[in-house]
Amino acid sequence: MDSYIDLENITTEELKHIDLDRVNVHCSPPDFEPQRQYYFMAKCRQIVKEENERLDRSLTCSVITFGCQMNARDSEKLLGILVKAGYAVTDSEDADFVIYNTCTVRDNANQRVYGRLGHLNAMKKRNPHKKIALCGCMMQEQNVIETLKKSYSFVDLVFGTHNLYKFAELLCAMYESEGMLIDIWKDTNTIVEQLPVRPKYSYKSGVNIMFGCNNFCSYCIVPYVRGRERSRDAREILREIESLAADGVKEIMLLGQNVNSYGRGLSDEISFAGLLREVEKVDGIERIRFMTSHPKDLSDELIGVMKESGKICRHLHLPLQSGSSRILAAMNRRYDKDHYLALALKIRNEIPDMAISTDIIVGFPGETKEDVDDTIDVIRKVAFDNAFTFQYSRRTGTPAAAMEQVPQAEVTRQFDRVLSAVQETARERAMLIEGRSLPALIEEVNEKDASLVIGRLSNNMIVHLKGTPEMIGTIRTVRLTECRGFYYMGEMEHG
Ligand code: SAH
Ligand code: SF4
Ligand code: F3S
Repeated sequence: MDSYIDLENITTEELKHIDLDRVNVHCSPPDFEPQRQYYFMAKCRQIVKEENERLDRSLTCSVITFGCQMNARDSEKLLGILVKAGYAVTDSEDADFVIYNTCTVRDNANQRVYGRLGHLNAMKKRNPHKKIALCGCMMQEQNVIETLKKSYSFVDLVFGTHNLYKFAELLCAMYESEGMLIDIWKDTNTIVEQLPVRPKYSYKSGVNIMFGCNNFCSYCIVPYVRGRERSRDAREILREIESLAADGVKEIMLLGQNVNSYGRGLSDEISFAGLLREVEKVDGIERIRFMTSHPKDLSDELIGVMKESGKICRHLHLPLQSGSSRILAAMNRRYDKDHYLALALKIRNEIPDMAISTDIIVGFPGETKEDVDDTIDVIRKVAFDNAFTFQYSRRTGTPAAAMEQVPQAEVTRQFDRVLSAVQETARERAMLIEGRSLPALIEEVNEKDASLVIGRLSNNMIVHLKGTPEMIGTIRTVRLTECRGFYYMGEMEHG
């Protein structure tokens, strides 16, 4: 038999390739990361192996994501660890280990979690080996933890956003303890690199460039549940992107709550535009996207880099939230209507084929019909290519929660006006490129018609065309034959 591996002596680079079955888990765990987590992955692997032998089948796992792209990326990290721990991956919630990676940005996200937990409990009653875990943004709220303890005591493991890197360790602890194991941290400065990831797609990937948020928009809970803004070291980001490119990834999306403030506080000073220039140099990466840009920090340098780039996609997500300067001030967004308009029109002018999408909140405390008129005015002047419109959701602990709320009937009325305005501009913008031939990254087979594949244009719009599964992950030139409102029908160009 091969000798044991002692993780104390293994470099971080070597960790990825070691055989976890040979790791010595009879000594105490290393006290530094990420070696410590690999120790617990190895330990968990033994637990899973023994269970598999006892049950004469493979324990399965499933990770369900409720939130934004950042949560989705975290889910890929959770799944990476579960795979190393020896579980078989499934999409079904009937799995032996199910983890919900939660979101709390609006109340309906929370309600969905509570609703589905009931079903998990029923499944657990049928499968005595089933374990249920909860993590993510919602777990950083004290009232949620109280509710879970009181009414959802069948949950086995609960942790938050700051200690996600300790998932392997928590998983082991869960198997070794009885009842609900809860570990929530208030904040952290640590960024642990080089943990395993199991990507959802082979051809595109999110890449975290920063964590947390310092902006404290008055309606938003994210800064409270994700902690203070911290940027990842540029070298680590580039190393990750190079390794993704080597694995065949064509498109990356740089992720952060406010990517325009990337680099603040790093010892090697670098701006977001500077980082983009470096990312552009990585061979094999053909498309670069990023999200989210805060209008207050979008520099001329960034506009210049986007304009010159052959890889940065022609799509900018620039959340407006409101077009009323009065409401923007109450929201603590730190720009006003004129600033936003000037910025968006400058981008339209400099890069005419750049699609601009946005987020809009309707029903912020104190919002009147006149405020919404201002929002609609901006929608029409910028002519957004796409917009996510949300009804304001009151989040406990945020400043806006204490302000005078708008009655629901009024919110609904104004929401409908905003929605029709954005649908109008989106339709107009989409029509503009009908008939053109453009590159599309083929992403998947159409679920409803297997003779069609779905491609994504640089401007983030979808095109359906005749195709086969082998085309997935390739970039093809597609003629946009017909605009159907928010998507196109197209044909592949040959030659
Ligand atoms: N960091 C990003 C947004 C992250 S949250 C930014 O600043 O643009 C995504 C979107 O959710 C926000 O843009 C906002 O439109 C919406 N949102 C956040 N808090 C909300 C709340 N309390 N009610 C309704 N929508 C909200
Ligand atoms: Fe929330 Fe504002 Fe931070 Fe975006 S920038 S995450 S809206 S506080
Ligand atoms: Fe939701 Fe957390 Fe993202 S609250 S939107 S999952 S950062």
